[in-house]
Amino acid sequence: MKVLVTGGTGYIGSHTCVELIKSGHTVEILDNLSNSKEESLDKIEKITGTRPKFHKVDLKDYEKTLEVFESENFEAVIHFAGLKAVGESVEKPLEYYENNVGGAINLLRAMRETGVKKLIFSSSATVYGDQGAKAYSEEMTTGVGITNPYGWTKSMIEQIIRDFSRAQKDFSATILRYFNPIGADKSGFLGEDPNGIPNNLMPVVMKVYRGEIPELTIFGDDYETEDGSCRRDFIHVTDLAKGHIAALENMENGTKVYNLGSGKPTSVFEVISLFEKISGEKLPVRIGKRRAGDLSEFWANPELAKKELGWETELDVEDAIRDTLNYLKNLS
Ligand code: NAD
Ligand code: UFG
Repeated sequence: MKVLVTGGTGYIGSHTCVELIKSGHTVEILDNLSNSKEESLDKIEKITGTRPKFHKVDLKDYEKTLEVFESENFEAVIHFAGLKAVGESVEKPLEYYENNVGGAINLLRAMRETGVKKLIFSSSATVYGDQGAKAYSEEMTTGVGITNPYGWTKSMIEQIIRDFSRAQKDFSATILRYFNPIGADKSGFLGEDPNGIPNNLMPVVMKVYRGEIPELTIFGDDYETEDGSCRRDFIHVTDLAKGHIAALENMENGTKVYNLGSGKPTSVFEVISLFEKISGEKLPVRIGKRRAGDLSEFWANPELAKKELGWETELDVEDAIRDTLNYLKNLS
């Protein structure tokens, strides 16, 4: 298929472009480079031998977005583009709603205008909010107890997509709810390279390992979990990327929703000790206070994706750490 990947120079988008090209699809990328660099295209080309056509466009600009759709004949869109920093979204809610919700509406309008009928959307486990549950399944209520504007944008876009696909004839939408993506392409050329100060665990660990941040603060060791730290369902970014190929190749009319996770939680302490074991280096770590809004533990029930898409994770946290270290070696 000829696929437009929005946000395709970003972390998950670029890894998905690699897997799409490897599976024989034709890829074009639309990105405004607000949180990524054009260099991603070189890396995708280095790994796959194919350089995707690139459109430097902001989805907030409807006219420019429409021009891209009018100049090409896309069969499907995978929509990654969005702002994703939870803390920043609390400080700048309007920017988040305008960029994420506004951008998604412009994208859907351009798709409607040009008759593109297949959409895959990057959602997040955050839409499940805080329900006191540990394992999340797709049929559970969403949109209750969401604590930040970023999470609300995901919940709102999911609803907009459901309404849109109901109103459009022959439209297929697949909403993928990611758990905690980590890791890097096994080639060592492509990985996560966030601009500025990262918030997520693995990018912080990477910066501490490289000496760019003096120490890692563990946000709380007094949770009611076995070792006191939070537990998350970490998923290797290549497994996550392959989930999009499975979704793309199994689309049907209407809206489908799938969790993409491993179903197995790993604690923050476990991640750190695996990182230390694999890298052979001790990380400077201190125990800090709990971070506002963090849930003690949650993971995916990944059964639906397995049953309907034939997809399940093949890699684990150790693979993700090994691939991250391999990527870091190539950076320095
Ligand atoms: P990323 O920041 O690396 O990639 C997002 C890309 O979108 C960037 O390249 C950025 O420049 C681009 N972008 C942002 N706003 C845009 C706009 N208005 N027009 C055009 N391009 C724009 O983030 P990522 O980690 O690769 O995440 C991809 C998607 O997956 C996001 O929608 C994110 O919310 C979602 N997601 C990520 C995680 C995670 O932990 N990384 C978890 C759940 C969901
Ligand atoms: N953590 C630390 N120290 C750090 C960074 C993180 O101890 O410096 C801990 C957090 O407290 C948490 C765990 O590591 O217990 C994972 O934190 P992340 O920020 O990596 O991930 P979250 O689970 O908080 O957030 C992720 C995605 C969000 C999404 C959310 C819910 O990054 O986009 O899951 O699905 F909204």
